[in-house]
Amino acid sequence: MSDATTDEPLVLGIESSCDETGVAFVRGTTLVGDALASSVDEHARFGGVVPEVASRAHLESMIPMLERASAEAGHRLDDVDAIAVTSGPGLAGALMVGVASAKALALCLDKPLYGVNHLAAHVCADVLDHGPLPEPTVALLVSGGHTNLLVVRDIASDVEELGSTIDDAAGEAYDKVARVLGLPYPGGPHIDRAAREGDPEAIAFPRGLTSRKDMERHRFDYSFSGLKTAVVRWVEARERAGEPVPVADVAASFSHAVADVLTRKAVLACTELGISDLQIGGGVTANTQLRELAEKRCAEAGIRLRVPRIRLCTDNGAMVAALGSQMVMRGLPPSDLALPADSSLPVSSVQA
Ligand code: KG4
Ligand code: ZN
Repeated sequence: MSDATTDEPLVLGIESSCDETGVAFVRGTTLVGDALASSVDEHARFGGVVPEVASRAHLESMIPMLERASAEAGHRLDDVDAIAVTSGPGLAGALMVGVASAKALALCLDKPLYGVNHLAAHVCADVLDHGPLPEPTVALLVSGGHTNLLVVRDIASDVEELGSTIDDAAGEAYDKVARVLGLPYPGGPHIDRAAREGDPEAIAFPRGLTSRKDMERHRFDYSFSGLKTAVVRWVEARERAGEPVPVADVAASFSHAVADVLTRKAVLACTELGISDLQIGGGVTANTQLRELAEKRCAEAGIRLRVPRIRLCTDNGAMVAALGSQMVMRGLPPSDLALPADSSLPVSSVQA
């Protein structure tokens, strides 16, 4: 990939908050070079991300990914106008690898450094596919690490959390249910595939935080722990009775329960706030039922739905560079070189 010289800033983005080492070059809102290394296979036998394994993998992948993204973009690191890095939230040790690398580059190359929020960066990924984000917009983020409903008034400086999961993230629930069904990690894609052969109405699994009382106290929050336990109990009861487990029906009914509550609350947020745009991101966005139900419910409610291509939904460096680029284009001052890695950075801190 290569780009013509324009007035738009060329920004290098670095992502290392979980198990993907992402490095990318973005010019304005155009992705010009993108490299990604994942340590997901190294975590598979543990059934979840092991922080120390992830940190080591970031260390090993950082320089090769910088080289690969640079070659793909046809730019030297020295060509960039700014460097953006995920400074939180995420795994502390993993974040530190990206933040330390970005600081070293900023110092050596004498470039401004922007510490950016990982969740806001997920939302910003969509500008690379669909151009400027309509503001305000409601954003639903669903991945192995997060489940958040956000209202975005300015992607570079004003993101408010409407709600989030009070226990497991949606992807985490997928991974745990997959284990019970004997499917490999990460479980989401396997459940998705199994669900295509099943009946989503076969089993009435619970919808967390949707009772009248919960809708008062946790209107835009999610909960998947009760659903996961309900699936485990249902499967165990079958096994105890010596009956075969209908994996496809369980997968379809579980997926339907997740997609139902995710889209129901996201659409409710749009209608109650009078916002006609919804953006969805995060690895679980790959889910067939979630996509179909979101499309159907948004169409019914007159809401425009934006979903970036899957590679931009999962963790990557492009989303970080895209958000850094928005900050540069708005003339926001850079972060301090003493920028910390903050594992619990609130989403309201778009820039750290
Ligand atoms: O965004 P992501 O790549 O990484 C973070 O967690 O930040 O999301 C990974 C999560 C995993 O839990 C995986 O099981 C889930 O996304 N996932 C899916 C699908 N593809 C990935 N869940 C449901 N259906 C899918 N097709
Ligand atoms: Zn993420």
